[in-house]
Amino acid sequence: MIKVGVLGAGTMGSGIAQVAATSGHQVVLVDVNEPQLEKAKQSLTKVLMRLVEKGKYAHNEANDILRRITFSSDMNDFSGSGIIIEAIVENLSIKNEVFRNLEQIVDEDCILATNTSSLSVASIGAVLTKPGRIVGVHFFNPAPLMPLVEIIPAVQTAESVLNAAKNLIDSWHKVTVITKDTPGFIVNRVARPFYGEALRIYEEGIADFATIDWAMTELGGFKMGPFTLMDYIGNDVNYTVTETVFAAFYYDPRYRPSLTQKRHSEAGYLGRKSGRGYYNYAEGVELPSPTKDEKLGLEIRDRILVMLMNEAIDALFLHIASKKDIDLAMTKGVNYPKGLLQWTEEVGLEWVLAKLTALQEEYGEDRYRPSPLLKRMVKNGQKVF
Ligand code: NAI
Repeated sequence: MIKVGVLGAGTMGSGIAQVAATSGHQVVLVDVNEPQLEKAKQSLTKVLMRLVEKGKYAHNEANDILRRITFSSDMNDFSGSGIIIEAIVENLSIKNEVFRNLEQIVDEDCILATNTSSLSVASIGAVLTKPGRIVGVHFFNPAPLMPLVEIIPAVQTAESVLNAAKNLIDSWHKVTVITKDTPGFIVNRVARPFYGEALRIYEEGIADFATIDWAMTELGGFKMGPFTLMDYIGNDVNYTVTETVFAAFYYDPRYRPSLTQKRHSEAGYLGRKSGRGYYNYAEGVELPSPTKDEKLGLEIRDRILVMLMNEAIDALFLHIASKKDIDLAMTKGVNYPKGLLQWTEEVGLEWVLAKLTALQEEYGEDRYRPSPLLKRMVKNGQKVF
């Protein structure tokens, strides 16, 4: 079994180290920040001991997992690894410098993987003398719990590297999907309207946060409504992802960020972590009640849903991933109740196209343009599957 190196012992890196060590690998977890390493060690110990209490592992198994992880502040300890997974700050010049140094330490055939969520894998791998060894492996937070990992070959990635990375992470009992090296990969691209269209509906005064959340959970079957979810993710984090995706798509109006979210973020209404977001989480404060008007609720649900379905079909149109992988990504990465392509098939392509066309006519905005593939399939009487 190969030795696994993880660079960055923050939220993602320590989760990824846990996953690899649980699957039996020797893991070296490196961070430049010593207190962060200590923190990661303590939190991993706590997590594993909690799993022992829950009966998931015997005491000695948990100890074995912990013993397999070496905590270090020296990248030279990566020597002899079969793969390095980088999970440091989201900054291209820092990542480039680190990858340049990594190449001096590891063997010729060591895979160099990045967990970046918003930079292109191509730009990270560009500094390597052997660029075929770069690949994206995008885990979701928390890494030990979320089943999905997006595997991203860059234009430089060697096929053998892609296959080896996929096989390795499959062996960690993760669900892997392969996606093109385009902004947001699958999940962070296709999910944008869940937030963006909800915010737009609110901005138009159609409904308040609680009513939109109610429509998406009660009538849409989603585990969490968009505002509750944004409050969980953090408005600062969610806003930044949207803004990054928007810019990376050359300002395609479909991904335009929301001023409402920007203002909440600016005001420090970040969500649960700051005690207040769209909702007030202070003790004793009751959450607002939704207006349970079914007609209104269905209108909200359908508007957000067709926008999501259009994104999924457009991702297929642009060969971002296979049909199967687009659907798996949304059910395993963000817990959607159904794969969006499967769902489109169920409600009918004509219905989705009619809704989008009506929105586009009403608003005259490019934001609502139906994917050419949707139009083509309806015209030819085709199905998705
Ligand atoms: P974090 O801020 O929790 O951890 C980053 C760690 O990297 C810190 O401990 C820091 O000390 C360390 N670090 C910084 N520069 C370093 C260097 N030159 N050498 C070694 N260690 C260094 O960040 P987080 O949230 O874990 O994100 C890491 C990466 O994962 C980013 O690229 C992010 O975009 C990506 N990501 C984050 C997700 C999330 O939900 N937080 C989800 C998926 C991907």
